[in-house]
Amino acid sequence: MSSAQLYDTIGATYTVTRRTEPRIAARIWAAFGDARTVLNVGAGTGSYEPSDREVTAVEPSALMRAQRPAGAAPCVAAVAESLPFEDKSFDASMAFATVHHWQDPIAGLREMRRVARRVVVFTFDGSDTAWRRRFWLIRDYLPEVVVPVGWPSLTELARAIGGRIEPVLIPWDCADGFFEAYWRRPEAYLDDHVRRGVSTWARVGPEAEQRAVRSLRDDLASGRWVERNRDLVDLEAAELGLRLLIA
Ligand SMILES: C[S@@+](CC[C@H](N)C(=O)[O-])C[C@H]1O[C@@H](n2cnc3c(N)ncnc32)[C@H](O)[C@@H]1O
Repeated sequence: MSSAQLYDTIGATYTVTRRTEPRIAARIWAAFGDARTVLNVGAGTGSYEPSDREVTAVEPSALMRAQRPAGAAPCVAAVAESLPFEDKSFDASMAFATVHHWQDPIAGLREMRRVARRVVVFTFDGSDTAWRRRFWLIRDYLPEVVVPVGWPSLTELARAIGGRIEPVLIPWDCADGFFEAYWRRPEAYLDDHVRRGVSTWARVGPEAEQRAVRSLRDDLASGRWVERNRDLVDLEAAELGLRLLIA
């Protein structure tokens, strides 16, 4: 199943938990500089689209396009790997939490570079094995989460846009419910709505999901989670391998 088809299946309740996190948005918008026109690739329901610039969105899933709010930027049905725009049609292009869904991430990033002068991408460092050890949800409950074999390194992704890499620490009260967002609010992962807003849970399948949830629930009740994760309870922001690529 392609990722667009996946979102046509799992995307119905996306906006219950997924929305713009203002502190991350501020960094993306700052990286746009004086860009007036912005292309948002893998735009979903429109999170992180700046309201003070002229935005065009690209989104392959009909279910996700249908949930864009009234008055949202115009949205084209297309994929990152083949953007239906002329060279340098936009001042900037952006992609948030979508590159890991693309069939060919390098081709998609090259397309973003081709159609825009600046490129800003929010993604994660899959090559960083510390990322798996650092995030307790994968380490202790969901070892099934793996980066696909042959997935390009972060350096290769950055090279595809000719960009630099910047770490993004995730605030403890992150407003956007992506996979890592609730690192200091473990009870959130027991909530079905939280899990339905993140494709990772669909990818590991119902058996692994139910086992992880059961085991986390037990550890929260017994105090074992707190025992294992004492270092997190006073942290304001965590380094979980999330990155901005900026060109
Ligand atoms: C996790 S959602 C992120 C949506 C939005 N950027 C956000 O931050 O809320 C991933 C999106 O990538 C889209 N997608 C999947 N494959 C794609 C591709 N090849 N090109 C562009 N977008 C794709 C999915 O349909 C889905 O809407």
